[in-house]
Amino acid sequence: MKGECFTMFFRVFLVVAILHFPAAMLAGPVGDAAHGTRSYDEYEKPLVCRSCHDDIFEQWSQAMMSQAFTHDWDEIEYFELAVPHAAKDEVVAGVRHGCNGCHAPTSFLAGDTPPPRPEENSRANESVHCDHCHTVTGFEGEIPHNFNWITEPGRLKQGPKPGAVSPHHDTVENEFIKTGDFCGTCHNEMSPYGVWVKSTHLEWKEGPYYEQGVQCQDCHMPKAKGRSAKMGEEGMIAQHLFHGAHDPGKLNGAIEMRMNPLEREIPYDAVAVVNVQLFNGKCGHKVPSGSVEDRIMWLDVTATDSEGKTWHLPVDPKGFEGEEYTIAADVLAYQDMGIAKEIPNFAGVQRDGVPVGDRIFRMPYFDPQGRMTIQQWNTKSLGVDYRIGPRETKVETFTWEMPDDIAMGKVTFHAVLNYQKLMTPVAEFLNVPAEEAEPQIINIATTWIEVYE
Ligand code: HEC
Ligand code: HEC
Ligand code: HEC
Ligand code: HEC
Ligand code: HEC
Repeated sequence: MKGECFTMFFRVFLVVAILHFPAAMLAGPVGDAAHGTRSYDEYEKPLVCRSCHDDIFEQWSQAMMSQAFTHDWDEIEYFELAVPHAAKDEVVAGVRHGCNGCHAPTSFLAGDTPPPRPEENSRANESVHCDHCHTVTGFEGEIPHNFNWITEPGRLKQGPKPGAVSPHHDTVENEFIKTGDFCGTCHNEMSPYGVWVKSTHLEWKEGPYYEQGVQCQDCHMPKAKGRSAKMGEEGMIAQHLFHGAHDPGKLNGAIEMRMNPLEREIPYDAVAVVNVQLFNGKCGHKVPSGSVEDRIMWLDVTATDSEGKTWHLPVDPKGFEGEEYTIAADVLAYQDMGIAKEIPNFAGVQRDGVPVGDRIFRMPYFDPQGRMTIQQWNTKSLGVDYRIGPRETKVETFTWEMPDDIAMGKVTFHAVLNYQKLMTPVAEFLNVPAEEAEPQIINIATTWIEVYE
């Protein structure tokens, strides 16, 4: 009797549970709670997929997605800053596991955290791999962020098309993976202090591209005629490029730039004024986006007279709150790296490392003590957001009192818009390979004035 009652109760419970949590039932816990709930064996290796999906495999293996755990700067930041910091500060203790939720999701799920260092060649090195993305069925919650994807590994692969037939696996069409929300599960990040420290998906969602139905995939996984597998059918195939800040071609011209003087002909004792217009016509989100704590874009303007003498022009301040963080200065910052590095009263390193007076397009992150930080997990507040939004135009003005020794005739102005994935002083301090901090020119513009006596 007792047994029957229990069976009955259990059946009702099961029906209720299945009706209410169908995905979660099959998939198990999501986000932080998924740590250690799976094993590596549940996911197939990318090398297995390669035997049929050769072209896609080679594209992916050139993209940062396949290096999210192994790439030098990721290795340095995780092992030399985040892991030691997590051991010293209760608030950020979770990042010891959590970084891997996006950078090495299978290691996170397997509870293999911290994973072995990349040189040990463990399965963590698969980084964000084929069978991770192709067994994601949806996400839990309101906003995709902090690896809140739902994973259901197995024979069934989630794909973009209906009726795809494969000798190795089953396939099902999944609308979710075709949307920006899928990317948002890793491209939005909230710090342990509840601050949005990565918000590429949110920026896109508030902007014009989302409204017009343009997904992340349309720009980062463009479709081209071909086959997705050796024995597959010809069709329009999503290219696994994931090209972003590590692709000079993607950055080139990402911001358009023009420049003009307010007056073309100017007496030598007057003041010259030039305006520079910067237009983001190519990116679905702000520039810079993603790892905003590391990225800067800066505008450098010089004037050269008819005898070849050159002067550097500082930008005109606009007077908005927090502007001091957007004009390059000779100041120290990033003192909280001293926690992991065990340097008491660490003075910090140069904040910008670019010519003083240049305009910097960036958003500063602040640690709990209000100091600027590159440690996004140790971010308690954000400063002014002076980045260029999708289809936004910003205008910068340079007012210049011409020097006494200027030569008469033509004066040419040169504007260079530079981008850097990581500020030089930080890269040097942490011994990050120089190419990570290599400045890249995004665009240039020139204009001129005539100076007369
Ligand atoms: C033995 C060959 C083979 C192997 C191994 C293989 N696939 Fe496939 N796969 C195919 C074929 C064939 C198709 C169908 C292609 C078509 O429809 O043109 C396919 C289709 C797919 C699709 C697309 C479904 C859709 O909606 O269009 C996905 C996703 C996929 N495979 C993922 C994987 C992953 C991930 C792996 C490795 C874990 C893998 N495949 C291993 C042969 C293979
Ligand atoms: C499982 C987590 C995860 C998902 C899902 C994901 N990404 Fe990423 N993505 C990453 C990580 C981690 C990196 C950083 C790699 C690095 O530089 O270490 C990255 C890097 C990138 C980059 C930057 C490459 C560069 O050159 O700087 C682009 C572009 C990108 N992803 C686009 C996408 C798009 C589009 C989607 C959705 C179709 C997507 N990602 C889904 C984790 C993810
Ligand atoms: C970051 C997540 C991610 C990773 C990693 C990834 N894919 Fe995909 N893949 C996608 C998305 C998203 C689509 C669908 C894009 C669309 O149609 O908009 C896709 C599409 C496909 C398709 C169908 C292509 C088509 O258009 O018919 C195949 C096959 C495939 N992937 C195989 C692979 C293989 C093999 C790997 C590893 C070498 C891999 N994918 C790695 C996200 C990923
Ligand atoms: C209209 C095209 C377009 C759309 C839509 C788009 N992107 Fe981008 N994305 C770009 C371009 C161009 C760049 C290169 C310029 C740059 O790095 O800011 C870029 C850069 C990136 C970067 C590198 C940013 C950095 O500075 O490190 C990431 C990561 C990224 N995109 C992810 C995404 C994700 C995720 C989505 C959807 C939520 C998305 N993108 C939507 C065009 C687009
Ligand atoms: C919610 C997902 C997520 C979490 C959690 C996360 N990251 Fe990332 N990380 C990303 C994505 C996506 C990018 C790529 C952004 C871009 O290209 O600008 C990235 C970029 C980076 C980069 C820059 C890589 C480059 O090539 O410039 C480093 C370093 C990094 N992450 C380290 C960490 C560390 C350390 C942690 C833990 C404290 C962490 N990440 C936690 C998603 C995440």
